[in-house]
Amino acid sequence: MSYIIVTSRSPYSYDKIRGKIYKRLNIGGVAIVLNDLITEEGGTWVCWGDGSADQDYMEEDNGKFRIFRVILSVPERRGFYDEYSNSTLWPLFHYFREKIQHDQKYFRMYSKVNSLFAESIKRAIRNTDEIIWIHDYQLSLVPGFLRDLGVVNPIIFTWHIPWVSREFYSILPERNQLLKSISSADSITFHTKEYRTNFRDSYESLIGDPKNLDKKLHYYPLGIDYKSYEDIERYRKLPKPMERLKIIFSIDRLDYTKGLIARVKAIESLLKTNPELSQKFMYLMIVTPSRTNVGQYMELKNELEMNIGRINGEYGRIGWYPITYIYRKVSQKTLINYYKWADIALITPLIDGLNLVCKEFVAASTKGLLILSEFAGSSEELKEAVKVNPNSIEDLSSALFRALSMPETEIIERLSLLKERVKRRDIEWWARKVTDTVKGKEPNA
Ligand code: G6P
Repeated sequence: MSYIIVTSRSPYSYDKIRGKIYKRLNIGGVAIVLNDLITEEGGTWVCWGDGSADQDYMEEDNGKFRIFRVILSVPERRGFYDEYSNSTLWPLFHYFREKIQHDQKYFRMYSKVNSLFAESIKRAIRNTDEIIWIHDYQLSLVPGFLRDLGVVNPIIFTWHIPWVSREFYSILPERNQLLKSISSADSITFHTKEYRTNFRDSYESLIGDPKNLDKKLHYYPLGIDYKSYEDIERYRKLPKPMERLKIIFSIDRLDYTKGLIARVKAIESLLKTNPELSQKFMYLMIVTPSRTNVGQYMELKNELEMNIGRINGEYGRIGWYPITYIYRKVSQKTLINYYKWADIALITPLIDGLNLVCKEFVAASTKGLLILSEFAGSSEELKEAVKVNPNSIEDLSSALFRALSMPETEIIERLSLLKERVKRRDIEWWARKVTDTVKGKEPNA
């Protein structure tokens, strides 16, 4: 069975730097499994070519699969990516009412770019039983445009972020267009039951009877490539000065959904109420740059850094600071080391479609405890984590206190149960479940 994979991000891009061409890999978990899928089964990947030399590689055959890149002008990129995707849809689907910005002209650009994707997909189709698998909120209008172009192939649409309650969804002026387009796919998959229910309710209140939709709606939580995190070959020992400290660890994109400010305030509260913990732990906080053209993201950076500076200033000692903050991308190898060093992973988004970091930590760790937000999609599955309400600094700080004094036997027991779960439902399991939803389906008449 051959596939046409459609994502906003590309598996890799080409950049031109001082006249030389460099290949930049996208190492995300979803990208890896999709890559494996079309390498094995054959197919085409349709994506946004955002590299500075990508216009020279609009249609590429790399020997394993083909890549069709959609090239965007500066205003197209802005309207599609920075504005409508990340300043309208992203805050809307994460319940950030006050951050939602809306301008018809950016929706028109988003719609135009989605139609460019649909045209590129149509060109890529070689036969009518190739499965078209479209991903995420940046591309919600693509299924509808494909049907308008007369495409009859089976379409899977996978939504990776939360789907909000019907009342909240109704805020969106283009609510009906999005719903109609997504529901023209043959299979629609979410990461949790709740998002699926919310989608169905939104459809029922805005479009009509959802009965015909029921057989198309599924939920399968995304998994990780478990084996690649277990690998102990890559392990580097903890640096000497850190040996006597308990390591609390987190890694996130710099995003207001991740609960970063509350988290550093919880460290402050922990030290305030338990001064004896001074110089007993270190919070290693990795934050990776994200959507840096969007104003709200840069404002958050300033606020976060001011808080970290204030807390380190107040509680630091010569040679010790409570928070070690790193603002840059880290390699997969370094990340696995950090996971292995960590005694506690502090994953506390205010809301998150799923969150793979907690699963990666579980796979890599041999001794760590997971503190997890009850508002992460993966919280439903990861029952043995210590659950917290990330909106409560008190709750976060007392979970940290509890974690720092938890007996080793309890930590290991929780971890081994979590490992079983994460291993069983890995990324291959997920991809098989999702693609099985349209297997054997005839092309649409
Ligand atoms: C979330 C979204 C993805 C997106 C990723 C990174 O996980 O669900 O669709 O690709 O964030 O964001 P970016 O804006 O860099 O693509």
